[in-house]
Amino acid sequence: MYTCKGYIPELETPRLKLRRMTRQDAPEIYRCWSDREVTRFMNISPMTSVEEAEEMIGFLNDMAEIDDAIRWGIVDKSTGRLMGSCGYNSWQIKGSYRGEIGYEIHKPYWRKGYMTEALKAILTFGFETMRLNRIEGLVDHRNDGSSALLASLGFTREGLLRQVQHTASGFKDMQMYSLLYEEWQKGDKNHAAPI
Ligand SMILES: CC(C)(COP(=O)(O)OP(=O)(O)OC[C@H]1O[C@@H](n2cnc3c(N)ncnc32)[C@H](O)[C@@H]1OP(=O)(O)O)[C@@H](O)C(=O)NCCC(=O)NCCS
Repeated sequence: MYTCKGYIPELETPRLKLRRMTRQDAPEIYRCWSDREVTRFMNISPMTSVEEAEEMIGFLNDMAEIDDAIRWGIVDKSTGRLMGSCGYNSWQIKGSYRGEIGYEIHKPYWRKGYMTEALKAILTFGFETMRLNRIEGLVDHRNDGSSALLASLGFTREGLLRQVQHTASGFKDMQMYSLLYEEWQKGDKNHAAPI
């Protein structure tokens, strides 16, 4: 049964390296996490200091230690720049073999296919290494970009979960998307390989 116990393996795609973030990454990821347009449909408020980003990185790595979440930084291999992050907000093996993904990338990098590439890598990891059977994405019903991204990856929109999340602006309805192992197996899965 999969446990990560704090180990966040590097994953590689043609253009990207996905790796564990460290506190030294805080100034760069802060640019992304402080941008109102990026955080608009996420369950965090835009950050206002680099220290908050440092704390978040520490928190995410701590969550990996206790198998509650696993988050990779998304690095452009050609420049070494950290563009965003993605990973599993949660997973549950016993009784369901499912996990929920989360992701964001800074605005200058939007619509260049980067998140498609990054998500294919973590889907491969989720299905092949974590042995998940069902991967979920919870998307704000107004977040057209994220909905279109998941649809392009073969996810099915299952329906609206009412007031399923609580954020600084109150309870939020979210669309539930999912991709099953048997569906993913039929598609193109040759996008990630451990380094
Ligand atoms: C949603 C997000 C992750 C997409 O990342 P990205 O790297 O731009 O996505 P890609 O370039 O791989 O897009 C793949 C496909 O998804 C769809 N898509 C992505 N962004 C879209 C947008 N803003 N509007 C409509 N379709 C969009 C398109 O079909 C796109 O293919 P195309 O560019 O060939 O038409 C990015 O906009 C983002 O970080 N947004 C803010 C954070 C966020 O909302 N996270 C998700 C929370 S659920």
